[in-house]
Amino acid sequence: MSDNLARLLVTGASGQLGRLVLRNLLATVPPSRVVALVRTAAAGADFASQGVELRIGDYDRPESLEAAMAGIGRVLLISSNDLARRRAQHRAVIAAAQRAGVRFLAYTSVLHADRSPLGLAADHRDTEAALTGSGLDYALLRNGWYTENYFGALAPALAHGAVLGSSGQGRISAAPRADYAAAAAAVLAGGASVAGHVFELAGDSAFTMAEFAAELSRQTGKPVTYADLPKADYKSVLLGAGLPEPVAELVADSSEAARGDTLFDDSRTLSGLIGRPTVPLAESLAVALTVV
Ligand SMILES: NC(=O)c1ccc[n+]([C@@H]2O[C@H](COP(=O)([O-])OP(=O)(O)OC[C@H]3O[C@@H](n4cnc5c(N)ncnc54)[C@H](OP(=O)(O)O)[C@@H]3O)[C@@H](O)[C@H]2O)c1
Repeated sequence: MSDNLARLLVTGASGQLGRLVLRNLLATVPPSRVVALVRTAAAGADFASQGVELRIGDYDRPESLEAAMAGIGRVLLISSNDLARRRAQHRAVIAAAQRAGVRFLAYTSVLHADRSPLGLAADHRDTEAALTGSGLDYALLRNGWYTENYFGALAPALAHGAVLGSSGQGRISAAPRADYAAAAAAVLAGGASVAGHVFELAGDSAFTMAEFAAELSRQTGKPVTYADLPKADYKSVLLGAGLPEPVAELVADSSEAARGDTLFDDSRTLSGLIGRPTVPLAESLAVALTVV
């Protein structure tokens, strides 16, 4: 079957990124070509009502994955949010795709995964190695930071007049989830021409955490500055705010690693893929502030 007619399966379809990918796909391809991998039918009910076929699968049950990928030509593997298990989970998806006869698999990795010092990059390198050695046609979608990562703490930042982090003067080329989703949908639906490509995906413009605090201050009229903390102190704050230890470690580690511009990229590959500029911080922040 031509890749222009292949059925397209999205994993993590019930998640925040997956839902946006499906929305983008449904704007360009008929629903009959779109398949959503979900753990429960209830999680995909709104897409099923639009004609998307649901396949039930769990990364922790490999036999469910092979059955779910029967007849599928192209897969988008959205990285799992299970930090303890995701290496094995991703390898299970790739192995099941091979067994099911899938031709192409795109994987959402992390920006500059091959050289990134972020602790979380190790999982992505492991998955990239499994995929590039699998014999499948592949694309690596190395996503930079979601702008939304900085919106969870807007209320305390405004209450205390301080944005906290460990990123120093590091520049962060963030883009909203919706922009990464549009790129993933374009690659998944785009035919075989991208096989073997590595996409370093990031926002067109970058900000430091001090610039983030200044923009927050400008838009709200409240004094907000950036307080740069040692990683251990920032992690303590995150634990105190109720984050589980592995998540607090991941956030503090990533924040500290950003000091070295490790989340910066000016290739504009993302805007090139989606055919429009990425949405800048000021615009995303204005929307986020309407619900704080
Ligand atoms: N670039 C960044 O800044 C950034 C930030 C945060 C996360 N991420 C990564 O990007 C991924 C997507 O982001 P997101 O915001 O869409 O995350 P999310 O909303 O947490 O979605 C995660 C998805 O993974 C699915 N999933 C989890 N365990 C599974 C399993 N055992 N079997 C099958 N599906 C499973 C979830 O299904 P259920 O609905 O059934 O739970 C959900 O659909 C995350 O998982 C994480 O790896 C990147």
